[in-house]
Amino acid sequence: MNPPLRLAQIGLDPASEAALNHAETLSNLFRDFELLLPKGTFIRRDEPLAKRTTLRVGGPADLYVEPSNESSLALIFETTRLRGLPVAFLGRGSNLLIRDGGIRGVVISLAHPHFSRITIEGQLITADAGARLKDIAHEARKAGLSGLEFFEGIPGSLGGALRMNAGAMNAWTFDAVERLRFMDSTGEIHDLSVDKIPVEYRACPLLRSRIALSATLRGTPDASEAIQSRMKTYTDKRWTTQPKESSAGCTFKNPLPTLPAGRLIDELGLKGTRIGNAEISTVHGNFLVNLGNATSNDVLSLISLVQQKARSVHQIELETEVEILGEDA
Ligand code: EPU
Repeated sequence: MNPPLRLAQIGLDPASEAALNHAETLSNLFRDFELLLPKGTFIRRDEPLAKRTTLRVGGPADLYVEPSNESSLALIFETTRLRGLPVAFLGRGSNLLIRDGGIRGVVISLAHPHFSRITIEGQLITADAGARLKDIAHEARKAGLSGLEFFEGIPGSLGGALRMNAGAMNAWTFDAVERLRFMDSTGEIHDLSVDKIPVEYRACPLLRSRIALSATLRGTPDASEAIQSRMKTYTDKRWTTQPKESSAGCTFKNPLPTLPAGRLIDELGLKGTRIGNAEISTVHGNFLVNLGNATSNDVLSLISLVQQKARSVHQIELETEVEILGEDA
């Protein structure tokens, strides 16, 4: 019997051979998912991701899946690991810049309604990672619990807010967190009290490679009207100081608490600068907006331009606050 022909022997270069192997691994994994996950699980090949982000740029996910429960999520981790592919997590995409080539491997999103429950007992609010921040803020208000008003205007999910330690209006997510439940990449579930979890300005490093499942947040009793009035003040501030076009929120971390990136970019005279269809907002210097059909490359070029200017004029290294994922086109 003749030995099997290697692809190289029939004239394929190594890059094409790697691409073919990758496509085959993906097909196998897609089949694993269809066989192992409950009927009705949302699974897609080459799923466009731009529409799943607030900035609306970037390429597709090789495989995109929304598990309908925790055991399915564990199965996704296990089968993806066995097939040797990477996983990435997507919340409501409000702090994400996905490169134009999209994301290789599996993108998991806890967008299934199973992961959006919010329950309140006394001063404790327990919410799933897929719950919308706006919904958590309003449930807390209805229960007369203060401390989460700043969630109202952030177009994200709790999972993303935990991963980023999202903040606004001088508050940040982990100020309110008491406990965090998460799954690691072997499918094991952990439940930790907040004092065991290191957090930073705009990051919870533990959640870089693990996925938040739910968190228990503590509110402080207050009159519903007082909470409502604070929410309105915050909303008014956003409407007057932040742009309305598609964006990923603030692009850069503030280099110092006393030096907001937005003011720095403003003082550098960069507001209104355009590359392709992306623009440094004329309203707030730290927002890069998509004027219509911007590409990820347009936005990345603007990011480099701002970083170079801050470096050459002030010797300041501006770090991105938005998560940049995926590959170049
Ligand atoms: N400023 C300017 N020019 C600008 C923008 C801002 O001079 O173009 C000045 C403002 O007038 C103000 C100061 O800079 O005196 C700070 O601006 P702002 O109050 O808007 O706060 P920020 O530090 O730019 C932070 C968060 C925002 C959050 C706001 C409101 C970061 C990187 N940003 O912005 O978070 O919404 O406070 O509390 O920490 C995000 O994380 O995506 C985000 C938008």
